[in-house]
Amino acid sequence: MPPAQHYEAESRSIADLPLPPGGLGWPWLGETLGFFRDRDFALKRHQRYGSVFKTRILGQPTIFVRGAEANQFVFSNENEYFQVSWPPSTQALLGPLSLALQRGEEHRNRRKLLAQAFMPRALAGYIEAMSAITLDYAQRWVTQSPLTWYPELRNYTLDVACKLLVGLDSGSQTRLGHFFETWCQGLFSVPVALPWTAFGRAKRCRSLLLDEIEALILSRQAAPEPGQDALGLLLTAVDDQGDRLTVAELKDQILLLLFAGHETLTSAIASFCLQVAQHSEVRSRLQQEQQQWLDHPLTLDTLKQMTYLDQVLKEVLRLVPPVGGGFRTVLKSCQLDGYQIPQGWSLLYQIGATHADAQTYDTPAQFNPERFDPEAATAAHKFAFVPFGGGIRECLGKEFARLEMKIFAALLLRTYTWELLPNQDLTLVTIPTPHPRDNLRVRVISFYSNPN
Ligand code: HEM
Repeated sequence: MPPAQHYEAESRSIADLPLPPGGLGWPWLGETLGFFRDRDFALKRHQRYGSVFKTRILGQPTIFVRGAEANQFVFSNENEYFQVSWPPSTQALLGPLSLALQRGEEHRNRRKLLAQAFMPRALAGYIEAMSAITLDYAQRWVTQSPLTWYPELRNYTLDVACKLLVGLDSGSQTRLGHFFETWCQGLFSVPVALPWTAFGRAKRCRSLLLDEIEALILSRQAAPEPGQDALGLLLTAVDDQGDRLTVAELKDQILLLLFAGHETLTSAIASFCLQVAQHSEVRSRLQQEQQQWLDHPLTLDTLKQMTYLDQVLKEVLRLVPPVGGGFRTVLKSCQLDGYQIPQGWSLLYQIGATHADAQTYDTPAQFNPERFDPEAATAAHKFAFVPFGGGIRECLGKEFARLEMKIFAALLLRTYTWELLPNQDLTLVTIPTPHPRDNLRVRVISFYSNPN
């Protein structure tokens, strides 16, 4: 049978399949309000309809999928059946030249280039600065205690990202730090740009952020050496045609790296701090493990051998994944679980719902690092644990993130402890990334501080 007919026959049979269950809601608006307001929006629908359901968000019919098989199907068919496509607010705020929005050959080319900043050699070079910034902040938190930790953790991760990606000291205390917070608030919002809407305020901050980044680029271009950080790499890089990146592209790429490099990490380390404070037996085991490493310098190798810490961090990312999932556009109709996934619709692969699936994880709502014990773990499906996504769009900063989480955790556990203050709301707010509603109020204590 000639290929064209074969495809027609195939597409005819896909068209015969039913659409996934679920309601499209109101015309255009669909179920947008529920999606933004209700934390359990997807959970409730999965309970009712199973692993695949349809809805409509921001005018776009959208299919939600969860589970290892669905993830694998999406990750392995990138550019074949699916293409990355963030909501309009995210696209407008990231900018058209951002890696997260680039596609096909352009994406492959730019990813190869940016990946150099995350190779093991580059990572090993980041340990010293990451450790110094961590210790500096930790000492400050002791003197500031009791304190509201989340904004401080965000300053910390932004300082690390600014130092290691663009060579800027104390980035959180600059205008850059100030504009980032408002910019983030608009990432998943209704894209109406008015002075009083979250999106309008965020768009204004995007242009202010780009001005700051442009100033950094220009001063680096004027310097005798470009530098070894991500900005230095991008300034000297040439693409496959031998061309340099334009200043406009440099600005969008740096904005993406600074954002991705701190907002998700803040959520991850805050969840670590919260879980450790709530599970004293886990804290004791973590502290015991650190005792074995006190006389060793922190290196990629020693960090790798902290296997219990590894388990705990994995469980943190399973229970509270900083990124809830990824949006795709359906390029070509296909089928999943016996349902039709129509061309032109949106699809959201869900990380949170996959990690909370009782078919994969026993008592998924429970924090239990033992489930990642390499000795006990039964071979779970590779795509059942996907905090960093997968396939050709897997998180570019995955190893940077793991490194920073480990250094932060190891250094704090060695010298400090922390306790939650009473009467605070620890319910998770999910936008832009999960964090406790009252921003995690704690007292940080050094083992060595004099109580008098
Ligand atoms: C715990 C921390 C982090 C988590 C959970 C996380 C998660 C993710 C996920 C799930 C994606 C894929 C989204 C999709 O499928 O469309 C992604 C993409 C990305 N992440 Fe991360 N991330 C983290 C930290 C970082 C860091 C530290 C950086 C950089 C310094 C970074 C840079 C990126 C970039 C550039 C992409 C886009 C990749 C592409 O489209 O090719 N991330 N991240």
